[in-house]
Amino acid sequence: MTNHNEFVGRRVFIFGGTSGINLGIAEGFARHGALVGVASRSQEKVDAAVQKLSTATGCEALGYVTDVRQYQAVSDALTAFSNHHGGIDVLVSGAAGNFPALAEKLSANGFKAVVDIDLIGTFHVMRGAYPHLTKPGASVINISAPQAFIPMRMQVHACAAKAGVDMVTRVLALEWGPVGIRVNSIVPGPIDGTEGMARLTPDEESRRAVIRSVPLQRLGTVADVAEVCLFLASDAARYVSGVVLPVDGGWSAAGAPIGGKAVPPVYAEAAPAPTTRAGE
Ligand code: NAP
Ligand code: COA
Repeated sequence: MTNHNEFVGRRVFIFGGTSGINLGIAEGFARHGALVGVASRSQEKVDAAVQKLSTATGCEALGYVTDVRQYQAVSDALTAFSNHHGGIDVLVSGAAGNFPALAEKLSANGFKAVVDIDLIGTFHVMRGAYPHLTKPGASVINISAPQAFIPMRMQVHACAAKAGVDMVTRVLALEWGPVGIRVNSIVPGPIDGTEGMARLTPDEESRRAVIRSVPLQRLGTVADVAEVCLFLASDAARYVSGVVLPVDGGWSAAGAPIGGKAVPPVYAEAAPAPTTRAGE
């Protein structure tokens, strides 16, 4: 990874930072000397993440059992971390829930559960953090998804929620720019070995179809996303705000597919057709 000495002693809080992509982001910051806080619902996952971060990186990691759907709990966790370290320099909002379901079979509560976690949870995180964010200088990064701008069957809940997340990013970049807070979204593509990928491409055939459809011809890694997160939080990105940045090997550049089967796996069906070269 790039050597970002500037992160030594920086205070970084990552919601949903106890597994997958978000834990990789936490590890990225911790390896560069940041003081990291992670939060999610499961005590077991929080404890394991804190243990992993501390042993792998030697950093001081703090953990909080928090459901992003509960504003007061979110605010309390951020206040506790900020009181401990004296503020927050980098905030990552990455807690999310997802599953494939056709709209006609999705209950009202199923739709609400995903919107509550992804979209309303992101507002809770940002609103709760605002008083603690370094002004000027803080960087806020929301973890979005291709569903935000590529319509996908069986994803009405995630598409609606993540589209909302990106609009929250853009609006708060406008509102918070004048006090020196940058707000951006990262859009991971299909990332290998993650819960999200497992839920949307559950078999080997669909996994291979997705790989073929990525212009760079491979799945992303957790480190691919963490590196871009470090860049966006770094001084090198000091004039970057309001951006929705895909980290997807070119996957979304190929656009949304037309047709396809109305059954899972979701990502394979949404994957753009591989490019056919002349003579093939
Ligand atoms: P993951 O490992 O399941 O990560 C989700 C995290 O959110 C977990 O730490 C989970 O921990 C936490 N969480 C879920 N509901 C929560 C709630 N109500 N309150 C607080 N924390 C909650 O999944 P992932 O695949 O790495 O995805 C991470 C992020 O990347 C998500 O924002 C996802 O939308 C985005 N993304 C992933 C992919 C991909 O290929 N995987 C692609 C595009 C975008 P607890 O269970 O302990 O709460
Ligand atoms: N298909 C259709 N509906 C589903 C579903 C599925 N696979 N999974 C859950 N639901 C519905 C439930 O039936 C329930 O609706 P109901 O009350 O009308 O029956 C609603 O969604 C909420 O489910 P519940 O299990 O009570 O929610 P929860 O708050 O405990 O968990 C989820 C939230 C459903 C998003 C769960 O999958 C989760 O915790 N996900 C986190 C990990 C994850 O998704 N990682 C990938 C990130 S991209």
